[in-house]
Amino acid sequence: MFVELDGQGPLHQQVTRSLREAVLCGRVAPGERLPATRTLARELGVSRNTLLQAYEQLTDEGYLVARTGAGTFVASALPGPAPLHGSGALHGSGEPGAPGPATTRATRAPELSSYARRALEGAPRGRVSWNLPRRGVRYDFRYGEPAYPDLPLETWSRLLGRRARRASVMRLAYSDPAGTPELREALAGYLARARGVRCTPERIVITRGSQQAIDLVCRVLIDPGDPVAIEEPHYTGFSYPLAAHGAKLVPIPVDESGLDVDALRASAPVRGVCTTPSHQFPLGGVLPLERRLSLLEHAAETGAFVLEDDYDGEYRFEGRPIPSLQGLDADENVLLVGTASKLLFPALRIGWMVLPEALVRPFCIAKAYADTGSASIEQLVLADFIEGGHLDRHIRRSRIKNAARREALQRAVETHLAGRGELVGTRAGLHGVLRVPGLPSSRESELRRACADRDVGVYPVRAYYTTLPATTEVLLGYGALEPADVDEGVARISEALASLGV
Ligand SMILES: Cc1ncc(COP(=O)(O)O)c(C=O)c1O
Repeated sequence: MFVELDGQGPLHQQVTRSLREAVLCGRVAPGERLPATRTLARELGVSRNTLLQAYEQLTDEGYLVARTGAGTFVASALPGPAPLHGSGALHGSGEPGAPGPATTRATRAPELSSYARRALEGAPRGRVSWNLPRRGVRYDFRYGEPAYPDLPLETWSRLLGRRARRASVMRLAYSDPAGTPELREALAGYLARARGVRCTPERIVITRGSQQAIDLVCRVLIDPGDPVAIEEPHYTGFSYPLAAHGAKLVPIPVDESGLDVDALRASAPVRGVCTTPSHQFPLGGVLPLERRLSLLEHAAETGAFVLEDDYDGEYRFEGRPIPSLQGLDADENVLLVGTASKLLFPALRIGWMVLPEALVRPFCIAKAYADTGSASIEQLVLADFIEGGHLDRHIRRSRIKNAARREALQRAVETHLAGRGELVGTRAGLHGVLRVPGLPSSRESELRRACADRDVGVYPVRAYYTTLPATTEVLLGYGALEPADVDEGVARISEALASLGV
């Protein structure tokens, strides 16, 4: 039979796929009449409806032609190659990856822009994703994610349902590329009270996560060849897009207090500085006030912009709160970037920028050209969530839970790893770094394997360095673990280290 079912996915998709392939491989000839749907359905043991759906889909795609009264025929001229993600995306069948017709022409490598060439050259191997692989280990010290079970999802879904049900035509149309006025207003209030940010709603541009904000900074402020300072080690969410835009990366060392501002001042002038002052990523230092002021002074003297990534500034467990750099900046050199990914969840894809006045319009234009604006219903829900006091309540509650998890981690490291491992960077945020002086960084993967053998997930810091450090360092995220599991996990890390002779 020229059509065969492969058992993958819904029946109508199986029939569509197989029939398309039969046409492309010539198992049915151009112009040939196909069996009646009733006949083929009987032969395949499926309903006639299934066949009707498949014939209709392939007629829409141009592989088949229906002639009233005469039946359905294979088209004599076949359509061009299907789009990369399957014609289903266009026609609503949802069927992934439909192959295009075989072509005898040699395929030429596409001509890529210099941006794309640089992006490919610098990209990490394999799939580009912000999700750490889920290995299914029992004691997973994943980092970079909120504690999902702590999320007030019921409240969120209630607010979402209300906004969706009541959406007016105006709400369903395109909205302001800078973001909905409601969210910008709510964020201006929240950021002033929680992060010491000085701004009006007009200075805020809503982005799809802080990653889009970083990309917009590259578009608006960076030309190929511009030197841009990054922390060493640094958040690769900065370095990959910067390199793709042709920036020359200038790594500046960090210590237990974050960016070494003296080293920055001693280096050649840069166009901009990308920094994570509230919780240096990945090593966890909190930039002290003197360094903040020195950085701002340097920016004012040299005209460099400062990109402040305030990604988990809300989770602070020690010391007096330090206002954001933006809140201390009298000279309009700081661009603050924040995200709902840590406060709520990454799938929201909502971030924000607080911009100097003179940069608002260029950023609004770049944002409009990138995507005409972020999804507005979710923005309205976030605005309701903030104005209803739910965000403050959620942060208060999760700070208490995260403080307990953090304490468990500190205690467990003292108990199980005394003298063998040093925990740094836990004054803020949701992760710490375990430094193992007795294990050179060349053996770091051995530690990860030994931990995995004991059902424990730890994550390398080395990926964030431009020059490898001497000793092994691993990231320990504690947001997703209960305190008892934190303790057991660290006890197992201790066994893993012992198995490596540490
Ligand atoms: C340093 C840092 N900034 C920002 C983010 C959040 O990025 P986004 O807002 O694009 O989800 C992350 C996520 O892991 C991060 O580690």
